Amino acid sequence: MASTNTATQQTAVNTTIDDQFYKDVLAGLTATPKHLDSKYFYDAQGDKLFQELMGCAEYYPTNCEMEIFTSQTAELCKAIISDGDAFDLIELGAGDATKSTQLLKYLIDNKADFSYLPIDISENVISYLNITLPVTLPGIKIEGLNGEYFDMLKKAAAISDKRKVVMFLGSNIGNMPVADAQAFCKELRANLSEGDMLLIGVDLKKNPATVLAAYNDSEGITKRFNLNLLDRINRELGGDFNTRQFDHYAMYDPETGSCKSYLVSLADQKVKIGQQTISFQKDEYIYMEISQKYAIAEVDDLASQANFTPLNQFFDNKKWFLDAIWRAE
Ligand code: AVI
Repeated sequence: MASTNTATQQTAVNTTIDDQFYKDVLAGLTATPKHLDSKYFYDAQGDKLFQELMGCAEYYPTNCEMEIFTSQTAELCKAIISDGDAFDLIELGAGDATKSTQLLKYLIDNKADFSYLPIDISENVISYLNITLPVTLPGIKIEGLNGEYFDMLKKAAAISDKRKVVMFLGSNIGNMPVADAQAFCKELRANLSEGDMLLIGVDLKKNPATVLAAYNDSEGITKRFNLNLLDRINRELGGDFNTRQFDHYAMYDPETGSCKSYLVSLADQKVKIGQQTISFQKDEYIYMEISQKYAIAEVDDLASQANFTPLNQFFDNKKWFLDAIWRAE
């Protein structure tokens, strides 16, 4: 899942994270079909490429959600302030908090009684937010939490019994297959109390050509973003991938709403990762990522299956993206 800010570049092969990275890479590349976990896209180089992608014309989701946050700030804030009681605003995968800063500023200016608790797996992201936000947003009460989402949600509940408003933006939910997204929403609900809220950003089904272009951009940024994971394996795990021998392939199925990315081997080849050798046949693919798109009714279903009630819906002017507010029942 995306941390949209600098993540620590790992160099040592013997740390716990690298052990897990190594295990996951080997398990994925010795499976049939081969696959890699898209959560590993985001090393320092991957973060940079994702930033580049967000500025590219064809990659619309970031701009659509930013439009919602800038043009409907007051309405969004009114919905989360609800009846005016004190609350904790918790952001999962906060990154550089560009979008949420719009809300934070409005909430502070309007004297809302809240604390901001960004959660991110990257220590760099959390220390960056802890240092910069009090400067850009004087008066903010911030407590960054560095760790896994659900561990940190439990910690947030332990340190404060205020109402929780959880933000999960950027269509990060789309990087899970539908069944995993359903399970994720249920686990999220299990970590909340009745009356808590979720503000969730979801990319919607739309003209299939528009979706496909976002994941197959003409400048080839998405291709470099995917190939960077092979480079990362070379850098951190002693791999010898020749990235020129792989091509990027994206496909979108308008019936299911799933957009999938693959890297395709251009030749019969062998790749070494540490002591292991992985064989690729020409045209064999590595499944890299899913970016699931939803219909509006499917977003409502996701809510009700997890015991949330959909309260509000905010769309960009093209109706390509939805920020929905759900109430925990
Ligand atoms: C972070 N995530 C929501 C992005 C997406 O749209 O699935 C990651 C991405 N992959 C390729 N382009 C963008």
